[in-house]
Amino acid sequence: MKDLIKIIDKKLDEYLPIIYPEDIFKAMKYTLMLPGKRLRPVMCIETARLLGCDINKVLPAACALEMLHVQSLIHDDLPCMDNDDFRRGQPSNHKVFGEANAVLAGDALLTFAPQLIIEKSTELSDRQIVRILHEYTKFAGAYGLIAGQVVDIESEGGKLVKSAEETLDFIHINKTAVLFRLAVRFGAICADADENTFNEFDKFATKFGLAFQIYDDIMDEISTFEELGKSIGKDEASGKLTYVSLYGLEEAKNKFSALIDECYDIIGKYHSEIFREILDKLKNRIVGK
Ligand code: IPE
Ligand code: IPE
Ligand code: MG
Ligand code: MG
Ligand code: MG
Repeated sequence: MKDLIKIIDKKLDEYLPIIYPEDIFKAMKYTLMLPGKRLRPVMCIETARLLGCDINKVLPAACALEMLHVQSLIHDDLPCMDNDDFRRGQPSNHKVFGEANAVLAGDALLTFAPQLIIEKSTELSDRQIVRILHEYTKFAGAYGLIAGQVVDIESEGGKLVKSAEETLDFIHINKTAVLFRLAVRFGAICADADENTFNEFDKFATKFGLAFQIYDDIMDEISTFEELGKSIGKDEASGKLTYVSLYGLEEAKNKFSALIDECYDIIGKYHSEIFREILDKLKNRIVGK
């Protein structure tokens, strides 16, 4: 996994040179190049590999996905959103470049990502590129990530239209699981996977994404700044609807653990060391070895 992360980091750097006007490219690149876990591009490339696709075919889409993710982080940290001063162990984008440039850097990453897919995916067919772009536009916007973020923010004030349980799952599936779904869906499209395989990976990613956000909710409660590289205890302080706030820490851990076990079951037959490593790491951190 370390080698794969090195390849991803090198490509991210290469795809985004700093040109005039430098301020915007520097702001885009700042959060992008800080040490994130790179889970989404790794899962994208690994899905493609498991289904027989060469890494070069999928790299532009995988890196574009990391750019979309970073956009969501930059905007998520803004004072008008979660108001977080740290990200990936360093001051948040708006703390370094100011709010205006942080908003613009997010917008620029959101639009550069599909540009990158179109310009650099020279080994994909036009049909594959259109499918990937359709997925991107659907899941990055108000039918996906933005829907999750809106309901997340609304929930702070206790504004609920549906039950708390339904609302919480809506938030987590949309703000978080959609990017993991995009990861495996991009990978499966690049590999020309059949419909059953596509749906199987999608099911895996949906469960994984939900588990991952529950993990993040739990870590906000039990971890440290040093481990996470971001402020902790913020969810409770801002009255967020999370798995911990609704179900309590122990039940949140149980739900997380059950979802991770389902993930092992779905992905087991592919014998992927990388997926196993990711699942093991998360599970061992929460429920111990
Ligand atoms: C943070 O995602 C946002 C959530 C969905 C909880 P990651 O924990 O994957 O963040 P990085 O990419 O490693 O910084
Ligand atoms: C993660 O939600 C979703 C997105 C960033 C889109 P959080 O607000 O919990 O993520 P962190 O904890 O700030 O990374
Ligand atoms: Mg948030
Ligand atoms: Mg946040
Ligand atoms: Mg969080």
